[in-house]
This record gives sequence, structure tokens and C-alpha cells, in this order.
Amino acid sequence: MPVADLLQELESLLEKLDTWNHQYYVLDQPTVPDAEYDRAMQRLIALETQHPQWLRTDSPSQRVGAKPLAQFGQVTHDVPMLSLDNAFNDQDMQNFNRRLLDRLAEISGPLEFACEPKLDGIAVSLLYRSGVLQRGATRGDGATGEDITQNVRTIRSIPLRLRGTGYPDVLEVRGEIYMPKAGFEQLNNRARERGEKLFVNPRNAAAGSLRQLDPRITAERPLEMCCYSVGLVEGGSLPDRQARVLERLQDWGFRINSQSAVVRGVEACNEYYQSLSERRDSLPYDIDGIVFKVNEFQLQEQLGFVSRAPRWAIARKFPAQEEMTRLLDVEFQVGRTGVITPVARLEPVFVGGVTVSNATLHNRDEVDRLDVRIGDTVIVRRAGDVIPQVVSVVLEHRVPSFQRVSFPQHCPVCQSAVEREEGEAALRCMGGLVCAAQQKAAIKHFASRRALNVEGLGDKLVEQLVDEGLVGNVAELYTLSKAHLLELDRMGEKSADNLLAALQDSKLTTLPRFIFALGIREVGEATALSLARHFGSWPVLSAASERQLLEVDDVGPIVADHLRQFFDSLSSLEMVRLLCDAGVSWPDIECLPQQNQPLLGQTWVVTGKLETLGRDDAKAHLQALGAKVAGTVSMKTTCVVAGPGAGSKLAKAEALGVEVVDEPSFLALLLAQGIEV
Ligand code: IVH
Repeated sequence: MPVADLLQELESLLEKLDTWNHQYYVLDQPTVPDAEYDRAMQRLIALETQHPQWLRTDSPSQRVGAKPLAQFGQVTHDVPMLSLDNAFNDQDMQNFNRRLLDRLAEISGPLEFACEPKLDGIAVSLLYRSGVLQRGATRGDGATGEDITQNVRTIRSIPLRLRGTGYPDVLEVRGEIYMPKAGFEQLNNRARERGEKLFVNPRNAAAGSLRQLDPRITAERPLEMCCYSVGLVEGGSLPDRQARVLERLQDWGFRINSQSAVVRGVEACNEYYQSLSERRDSLPYDIDGIVFKVNEFQLQEQLGFVSRAPRWAIARKFPAQEEMTRLLDVEFQVGRTGVITPVARLEPVFVGGVTVSNATLHNRDEVDRLDVRIGDTVIVRRAGDVIPQVVSVVLEHRVPSFQRVSFPQHCPVCQSAVEREEGEAALRCMGGLVCAAQQKAAIKHFASRRALNVEGLGDKLVEQLVDEGLVGNVAELYTLSKAHLLELDRMGEKSADNLLAALQDSKLTTLPRFIFALGIREVGEATALSLARHFGSWPVLSAASERQLLEVDDVGPIVADHLRQFFDSLSSLEMVRLLCDAGVSWPDIECLPQQNQPLLGQTWVVTGKLETLGRDDAKAHLQALGAKVAGTVSMKTTCVVAGPGAGSKLAKAEALGVEVVDEPSFLALLLAQGIEV
């Protein structure tokens, strides 16, 4: 090929890769399959290797590759990077607004505010000359920061070269580098598997990833950048309002926050705050508040600064998701399968919107990792519906007399021996069904909504029944009489009748529910459904060999082993017999041989609220029909089931042209497969 043609091919590859990259990492709208992107990149690298003189620093092939540094250089910020004043309630916002109006005497109507989620990450500055990224720096103390150019280059949502036209000769863009929640979870899961140190929260993970001297490490971390302002601008001009500047930055290839809005007046700011705080947990990244900025630059200039913060902006903080408190004690809870979980008893603390006095410590590995002692000051985190976690210990507050956590040698409930199985982090009570804690947990599970659904048999009542010696296993539930029930505290005639009726109703069930209700280790709802559909009846299932069990879609060697142990245990079989004798029954179902899985090879995503079915059931059905159920929408997604409240996943599916069905259509589809919900 003539050199001119090769050069042209190179130009076109650069352009294509830049565009695809922008679509994928900035707009979240991939347009080509990964394989095509990879092919173009390989071709680009081949051309650049054959013709090194064509290699440009802003080529997409040059994101990673720089050598590790000995240390970071220093950077002076020409325009200082300031911080923000905080507001904690509506009154603080009113006061902020009043101060603004007092200073802007000529303004009479409500002020226009740009409202932006305050991402919880690391502030950075990016310097572009003639549209090419020259330097990336941390905020540092606001006047000088560290040169992290090599590391910011690895972040795919940061353009190496600006897109479009009309940008100033010198443009300093500022924003936040952060780690999305999903990426953080993955990173920590991987670290946990390798026995490495975990990151406390996404912000620390982002900071740690940027502080790497070796950019190859940074490149592997799921970092993103979202822009919120400009610093130095030379040889060009920008729009006259904050929100419009963000739109321009978006045109030039930056990611900006899609939740940002412009509102008029402080009441509207407060409404925006309320509305976003309700959606806070469903956002894919952590935010710790909202930044409100007077939108017009001319007014910003009039208002100016006080010490290190602008008068024209304020950060309204959300209730903290992390707080300090004291660890009073560690107690041990025994779960359904005997797993003993250490639970931290804490001095009550208000965190993430609720008062927390207990937090899980997971297992012995976690206690060792935290090296927590009784009496320690600890940091507790509660984000969204997630159970509260102890994330770290404040070592400065430790006193030598604080005692280590000692794990029990015997079950704290039934005194049976405790064992730790090979390769498992958990301690386990070996008492089985003689252990009252396991009895209670097994009965609660059996009666729960997704199992035999005994209405009105709540946790408290189960505890009473076991403590009073009325019930010791699930079969004994069906031997309860009204006279028995009336012996219980606070149990009236009517409640007793209702409970007996609910027990009666629960007897007619389905095979998948029955299998799930037995509480066999590692057999969740989806596995129970697969087993039921595969074997069709209890006798066939319970006679299945390990090899036959392994033929079922989501059954691996561990699950097969637990199943075989259950079927080989005389006491388990006796329990099933007693249940059947008591009248528990279900219709056998038609077997679905593996090859009859109509959704095999497809990938589905379930999002939003499914009112009839619930998301878990929807997933279980999809899996039983052969589909893979994924957490994120991509080009590979076959179909998205979207209920009310579906957000970014639905938007992405629509942008990608992925098929979307609502719950009624999904139910119709299930019905067509013989699944009646
Ligand atoms: S504006 C002069 N906008 O909050 C204004 N800051 O306490 C300076 N932050 O270090 C910042 N999201 O890292 C601004 N939309 C946003 C922001 C934001 C997060 C961080 C920023 C800064 C800190 C200010």
C-alpha cells in the first residue's frame, strides 16, 4: 500500500477509536462490539510500530505504557483550587440566599442556580494546550498539587485530545475523579479472593489508585472523571453561565453529571436537594451532597471570595454515611446452617439516616483484617439499604488494655462443638437441628414468603414457639393445636385461628418452593427452581446421583455435594416424610430437559420495581429458561425487563436500541412458556 494510503488509514483509525471511546466511556452508549474496537486498536498499534514517526502522544494507544515514576512532581495552580462552604439544612440555604441577595442589591427576583451532585472523589485539574492534554494534577493544598499526568491519561473518560472545535488555546478543566460503586465492589471482591487489603470506600479506592507511581496499576482501576468547572483559560472565551460552560465541556468530549440542573430560587434548590437525596442510593456513584452555584459568571464576579471559598457557591451536605463510634462488645449469632457470625455491638450512632447500634463483622478473617479490639473507636458505614459495616479502626484512640475479640470454642446457643471447614472463612456450630438458633432460623426460612409463605408466622413468634418448646423443627409446625398456641404470651383466639388457617393454607405448595424451604446449604431460590424443572418430582430428585445433579444448569460440585448429603441423611428424609404426612403437597411439574431452554445464550437485565413478581423471582424464571441475567446493560444484552422506577439501565437500553419489555409483557412471555405466576 502506498504510504499516503497508510497514513490516511492511520488518521481514520485515530478518529474512529476516539469516537468509539467517547461513546463508550463518556456517553455510556457503546456503538460497536468490543471485538471491532480491539481489531481497530491492534491495527493502529501495528501501523504505529511500523512507522514510529507517526506515533502521537494523544493517540488512543498511548494511554498506558509510561514507566513507573520515582516520585510525583509538583504543580503550581495558576488559578487556585478553592473549597466550598457547607450547608446542612434548609435554614442554612435560606441564609446563603439572603447573603447573596444582600450583596447583589440590584437583583430583585429569585436567583438562578446551577445544581450539581457533589461527587465524592478526588479533585483534579487537567491542562489542555491546543486541545491536547498536557498535564493532570491533584488539588493538593489548593495552591500546589502533584503531577499525576501519567495516571490521568489512563482514565478512558478523560479525552487525550479535545473533540470538536472552538476551544481556547489554553484550557484548564477541573472535576472529580471517582470510582463507581460497581467497580469498587468488583475491585474489593478480587482483593478479598486474593487475601489482599480491602479499600474502605470508593473514595479511598480512587485516591489510592491515583497515588500509584506505576500507571499500569492505575490503568486497571475502574476510575472515571466528571467535570464541574474551568480554571485557567487563555486565547478563547467561554459562555457566560456555569451550566452552559458544562455543556461546552461536554461537546469537547468530557463527561459531565447527567443529574445537573438549573433552577430559580432557593426553594427550588431545596426541592432539588430532596429529590436527589431520595435517589442518592440508586446512583451508580457516591455523592456526599449537592453543590449550588450562582449560575451567571458576572454575578459570581461581583460576589467574589471569602478566604478560600467562593461566596457564590455552597455545598449542601447529605447526612454522613460514615461516622465514628465505640465498639462496646462483640457477640456471636448462629445462622440457619450453623454459621457463627460475629456482630459488633456499638454505642448508638446516627449514620446514613438511621441510628445504628449493631454491625456485622462477617467472620474471623474480617475481624483479623480490621484487627479490632473491644473498646476501640471504629468507623461505621451505612450506605442505602446495605447492612451497617465496621470499615476501620481509629488506632489513635486505642488503649493497650483493649482486648482482642475471642472466638467461641462452643456454640453460644447450644454449646455444641464449633468447627472451621477447610477453605471456609466461617465458623460453624456442629449442633445441627439440636441447636435452638438453627431451629429458629430453619423455621423462619421455611415459613418465609418465598418458601412456604406461612402468613403471620413472623420472627418473634417463631422464637417464642421454639423457646417455649412447642416446636423444634419445621414438621412440628403442623402439629400445633389451638390449645398450644393459646399458651403463648399475647396470643389471642383470633390470632391463633389465623395462624392455624395460614399453616393449613401453606400445605399446598409448589415443588420449587418446597425444595427451597428445606434450607439445603447453597440451594437458593434459583437453584431450587432449576432442580424442580430438571427432575420434575421429589422422588426423582432425591434419587439423583451426583453426576445427574451436576447436569443441572446452576449446580456445581459443591451444591451437588450438599444435595447428596441432604438426601443421604436419614433425619432429613424423615423430616420430608413427616411434612408429607402432615399434608404438605405439590403438583409434580413437567420436566424441562436442558436442551429445551428457549432463552439459552441470551442475556437479560431486570430493572425497576416488578410489582407482581419481584426482581428475584423474575431472575430465577429467566435463569430456568436458560437466560443469563446480568447487572448492566451492554451491546450484548438481549432484552431488558423494566418496571416502574427504572433509571439509567432503561435509558441505556433505549440508547443502545436493546429490546425493553414491561412487567405485563414479561408475565405473558412466561405464561407462553407454561410458567404461571
Ligand atoms: S466547585 C470554587 N463543583 O468539592 C468551587 N466542587 O469542597 C470549587 N466537588 O474539592 C469546587 N463536586 O473536589 C465543585 N460539582 C462540583 C463538585 C465539587 C465535587 C468537590 C471538589 C472540591 C470540593 C469542595
